[in-house]
Amino acid sequence: MKITFNLNGGPQYLDVEPGEPLLSLLRQLGMKSVKEGCGTGDCGACTVLVDGRAVRSCLMLAPQIQGKKVLTLEGLGTVDDPHPLQKAFLDSGAVQCGFCTPGMVLVAYELLLGNDNPSRDEVAEAISGNLCRCTGYVKIVDAVLLAAQWKREGRWR
Ligand code: FES
Ligand code: FES
Repeated sequence: MKITFNLNGGPQYLDVEPGEPLLSLLRQLGMKSVKEGCGTGDCGACTVLVDGRAVRSCLMLAPQIQGKKVLTLEGLGTVDDPHPLQKAFLDSGAVQCGFCTPGMVLVAYELLLGNDNPSRDEVAEAISGNLCRCTGYVKIVDAVLLAAQWKREGRWR
């Protein structure tokens, strides 16, 4: 079946199988930031934003994004031109193996779009569905709070 949607600001018009997971479609399109951890909705590694809301792409079917806007980490920033939120993760030492990082950044982005002055508890709650085996979460929360400070200071683009 044919679907049209917007991926990271660009239009897509594609043939997809009715039962194809969004996760596999996005990886076929080169979005390698979208990770398959569990494949069952439990880890958050496959998180992307659909119309501004964080979703688990392993649980969503490709046809469900018909007419919607999808944002992956590739659309937020690049290695050469990282988004301030990505830079905050780097500056805070919140990235170790990096497997969870795209999903963490995107749930933090969703949070900070609606609240640029979250408490530590609010950040912890926002990332609570995303598993990290490496960092112990403290530095991830530090990173999100730093990014929030930068947003309040007008340093986001
Ligand atoms: S791969 Fe989707 S939640 Fe784990
Ligand atoms: S940095 Fe390795 S799983 Fe989070």
